[in-house]
Amino acid sequence: MWFFIFTKTRAMAKKIAIIGGGNLGTAIAEGLLKSKFSKPLEITITKRNVATLKSFEQRHVKVTDNNSEAVKQSEVIILAIKPFQVNDVLNGIKKELGNNKMLISVVTGVTLNDIKGIIGEKTSLFRAMPNTAIAIQQSMTCICSDKVSSAETKYVHDLFNHLGRVVTIDEKLMEAATILAACGTAYAMRYIRANIQGGIEIGFDAATASIIAAQTVKGATELLLQNGSHPEQEIDKVTTPKGCTIAGLNEMEHQGFSSSLIKGIITSYKKIAKD
Ligand SMILES: NC(=O)c1ccc[n+]([C@@H]2O[C@H](COP(=O)([O-])OP(=O)(O)OC[C@H]3O[C@@H](n4cnc5c(N)ncnc54)[C@H](OP(=O)(O)O)[C@@H]3O)[C@@H](O)[C@H]2O)c1
Repeated sequence: MWFFIFTKTRAMAKKIAIIGGGNLGTAIAEGLLKSKFSKPLEITITKRNVATLKSFEQRHVKVTDNNSEAVKQSEVIILAIKPFQVNDVLNGIKKELGNNKMLISVVTGVTLNDIKGIIGEKTSLFRAMPNTAIAIQQSMTCICSDKVSSAETKYVHDLFNHLGRVVTIDEKLMEAATILAACGTAYAMRYIRANIQGGIEIGFDAATASIIAAQTVKGATELLLQNGSHPEQEIDKVTTPKGCTIAGLNEMEHQGFSSSLIKGIITSYKKIAKD
């Protein structure tokens, strides 16, 4: 028991450098702080224009424009810059990376091999694909890795489990994960928006329709996540024979509802695979 507490505390005390304090980098930092996975002084955030990180500085998070210094003082490096910045930034910090460090890249489209090609083989490498709900600790984060230890895997899973849910995937599915998990947020928003528009047409004001639509979708997803059920099982519970739900659902399908969603996902995937 004491051993467990000791190892858990040690695992959580690693110093983390977030290289690239933009939308995603700061959302990760917020999540680490809110979830108490890290203490403020255990996090360093970098970017060139640090003025935008004032609110973190005020909370005693270390803020700097010096990537090398941040990496030197940290055991875990989260790379959250744009793909075209990766080459320059990694070349700038590679001297500070080594055996005892972990690098977690959240950069879209940059492979583990691309990263190894710049920094070599010494540092343990992970790729993570979160979504914007990471800001409220509700991300779906898909993770892959290369030659990492089980302790390192556990640590990275712990970290992202504090920011939502985690699944491990093969790297070849990383683009598919971007579509289903990251673009998926946008698809879900359009579905909810359509519900709001329909809700207004049948009598609700926009604000009430928004709450009803969002909470109903939240409840529906919780049914799946908590019951482990298939959507169709939950649909069967709502569809009375000859009732209004099945009439509406069938009309949606006649109009190509499922087909249009699947085609949209495949179109997004073809686009990401091509670019
Ligand atoms: N947003 C998402 O939902 C999401 C989801 C999954 C993956 N991703 C990936 O995550 C990465 C970051 O996305 P984002 O939306 O957070 O982009 P972003 O808001 O543009 O953030 C990138 C940050 O990197 C900083 N930066 C640029 N050059 C730097 C340097 N040399 N050293 C240190 N920091 C530097 C920029 O700040 P300065 O200009 O001040 O340096 C900027 O704040 C992208 O590769 C994206 O594909 C994003």
